[in-house]
Amino acid sequence: MSKPLNVGVIGCGFMGRTHTNAYKKVYSFFKPPFKPVLKAICDTNADKANAFAETWGFESVETDWRKLLARKDIDIVDICTPNNTHKELAIAAAEAGKMIICEKPLAMNTAEGQEMVAAVEKAGVPNLVSFNYRRVPAVTLAKNLIDSGRLGRIFHYRSVFLQDWTISSDLPQGGDSLWRLDVKVAGSGVTGDLLAHCIDTAIWLNGPIKSVTAMTETFIKQRKHTQTGKVEEVGIDDACAFMARFANGSLAVFESTRYARGHKALYTFEINGEKASIAWDLHDLHRLSYFDHRDESIVRGWRSIHVTDGDMPYMKHWWVPGLQIGYEHSFVHQVADFLEGVDKKQPVGPTFRDALETQKVCDAILASAKTGQWVEVG
Ligand SMILES: NC(=O)c1ccc[n+]([C@@H]2O[C@H](COP(=O)([O-])OP(=O)(O)OC[C@H]3O[C@@H](n4cnc5c(N)ncnc54)[C@H](O)[C@@H]3O)[C@@H](O)[C@H]2O)c1
Repeated sequence: MSKPLNVGVIGCGFMGRTHTNAYKKVYSFFKPPFKPVLKAICDTNADKANAFAETWGFESVETDWRKLLARKDIDIVDICTPNNTHKELAIAAAEAGKMIICEKPLAMNTAEGQEMVAAVEKAGVPNLVSFNYRRVPAVTLAKNLIDSGRLGRIFHYRSVFLQDWTISSDLPQGGDSLWRLDVKVAGSGVTGDLLAHCIDTAIWLNGPIKSVTAMTETFIKQRKHTQTGKVEEVGIDDACAFMARFANGSLAVFESTRYARGHKALYTFEINGEKASIAWDLHDLHRLSYFDHRDESIVRGWRSIHVTDGDMPYMKHWWVPGLQIGYEHSFVHQVADFLEGVDKKQPVGPTFRDALETQKVCDAILASAKTGQWVEVG
């Protein structure tokens, strides 16, 4: 019998939904050692929180996260609030002895992230940052192929994350979802929001990033703020492109923007090794493209692996071979792995400490963009 584990989710926006959905599904599909109980939802917006509790089946509602953290009946705190709240909430949750899942990016900057790492390690609480794309089965398969040596020496890593939703100059900054355009809440623009995902995956697949050189641009310099009603400076990077050197000697090019007309969430990566290459595309997330130079020349070519068979990562828990899964499932996998780790008392990545490495790369990118110089990470 799995033991009940009482969950308190903070923030009932986009991520509040994906995480809550994961807690609801994980037991039925993965039978982890703990059975999540939706104990409390917390949001500063009481109407939203009450409606969310009714829709998703939470037992109770809080509007002050301090009250949630003070409750003895909460085991795990799941932070799904904007970036400028992560540090305060996570440190308080650690001091209250709660297990923590925190949305990405870990923090507003490296200094904040270091405080958060110190807090969870001092408290000894299980902790994880929600870089969920690691747990798309095709991405996990890419990791397994690289770790097994199939690609050989890696030469190149190439990754983009493209969107197009901020092109209109009428779009305000601040408030639900639009906090991403307000640097005081987001910390940065596409660097912390989108490239952080690309960087986490890249470090996981290809090892540490040593140095970067970057350029950023803010295409629309002023936007009305929803909270003050005034036109204010825009402090975020609307677009960022950077080159990087990995510790293993490979070279990388990354690009992200919210001004790529026609692209909604085009996250791709390609890795070129001595013996083989792999490529992945979020828009077709259940497929992994693979090219192996060792194949006989008359059949050699890019193959598209449909990652649905039972021996593919995570897939035996879902349907039957040939039937694919999607975006939401990466969050179910994240919770499943986290709960296994809690039971075995083994940290499951990306921990706060792992996510700090991504934060350091983001800080190096933003520093480089100011000077145009190469910057060593950390
Ligand atoms: N892993 C991913 O792919 C992914 C995708 C989107 C967002 N995120 C991250 O998730 C976090 C939340 O993003 P979102 O898109 O869900 O935002 P959102 O705007 O949709 O929702 C945020 C919610 O938090 C609530 N909130 C704000 N401050 C609060 C506080 N102090 N206490 C309680 N509630 C508070 C707001 O009322 C709102 O309901 C961000 O850190 C973001 O970077 C991650």
